[in-house]
Amino acid sequence: MTLAPAPPRSDAPPAEPGLLALVGRTPLARIHTPLPHPHPGFWAKLEGLGAGGMKARAAVSMLTGARRRGELRPGAPVVESTSGTLGLGLAFAGQALGHPVVLVGDTELEPSMRQLLRGHGARLELVDRPAAHGGWQAARLARLREILARTEDAYWPDQYNNPDNPAGYRSMAAELIARLDHLDVLVCSVGTGGHSAGLVGPLRRRWPRLRVVGVDSVGSALFGQPARARLMRGLGSSIRPRNVRPELFDEVHWVGPAEAVDACRRLARGSFVSGGWSTGAVALVAAWAARAEPGAVVATVFPDGPHRYLGTVYDDAYCHAHGLTGATPAGHPLEIPHPRAAEAVGWTRCRTPAAALAPAPDPTPVPVPRPPAPGGAV
Ligand SMILES: Cc1ncc(COP(=O)(O)O)c(C=O)c1O
Repeated sequence: MTLAPAPPRSDAPPAEPGLLALVGRTPLARIHTPLPHPHPGFWAKLEGLGAGGMKARAAVSMLTGARRRGELRPGAPVVESTSGTLGLGLAFAGQALGHPVVLVGDTELEPSMRQLLRGHGARLELVDRPAAHGGWQAARLARLREILARTEDAYWPDQYNNPDNPAGYRSMAAELIARLDHLDVLVCSVGTGGHSAGLVGPLRRRWPRLRVVGVDSVGSALFGQPARARLMRGLGSSIRPRNVRPELFDEVHWVGPAEAVDACRRLARGSFVSGGWSTGAVALVAAWAARAEPGAVVATVFPDGPHRYLGTVYDDAYCHAHGLTGATPAGHPLEIPHPRAAEAVGWTRCRTPAAALAPAPDPTPVPVPRPPAPGGAV
């Protein structure tokens, strides 16, 4: 005897499967704008121009995977912790597949993002203080567990550890392979590790000598640095998710918020396309990679567009108050031999990212400030 599938819950929104056709197929742009130093150009996948942003790919993949395995029942609520972009992706996937979406954010979440998430039908719960250990992420996860315990049938995608998150980016890899004849260097921001882990496999099968550069935030614990309070959202984390695989990367760069702001604003003025913290950070590093190796084909992913960041990256008063204006980013990063050799406080590069996996050999590293550059740029 087979059981009839359970009917959708009465509080579920109607599914709109036609929306799924809007995911992905984003443009690939050639960026030449100096950032601030001239470079030969790099390719940028403009994920902000796809419905639901880059994370719609991950959200649809995680929800369809869970439905296939019977972990997510038709119409059941989806609950996730997010600092924004995945929330928008889940709001999109929830509408497409017919699931109510509950998101746990924190009071650092930009007002514009709160409005966007609520405007797209998600219920938003905000935690108002970071946990003593694990920061905002740990505080959000604690609230998420409370909601899961009291919500019947609730499903938690767990973007930090769910293999369907990286799997959602196979479509992006296929789009890059269809557009590019060759690729030498892929530059990816890293937060949950989803898009970097999802792209690397298919792209290395196509181009076995591909080098992969991870871009993290200063103050992030992803690649072995000590966790600190961070201004930048999206890239970086105070925890180490399973989807972040340091061994996949040939090198890692940590970028500071002032450097990301400078790149975002130059991009917006010179190339029209821009984005937020992660876009600025990857653009800085991709431009450097293109300059460091003339002739190499370099590609990166701009995870979202600028609109969420009008009150931060593009707000003069905010940038002034946080000391993010006036400095010209260096022409190259500082180099450290090991992820824990020194604490990155500005753009810093390490060519042994996998060493972050080893247990900490040394005490907390001492910050090594960049010496002031004569005339600004180095
Ligand atoms: C705006 C933005 N950029 C970059 C990332 C990092 O991407 P991933 O989680 O795939 O590592 C995120 C993740 O949340 C994000 O929201």
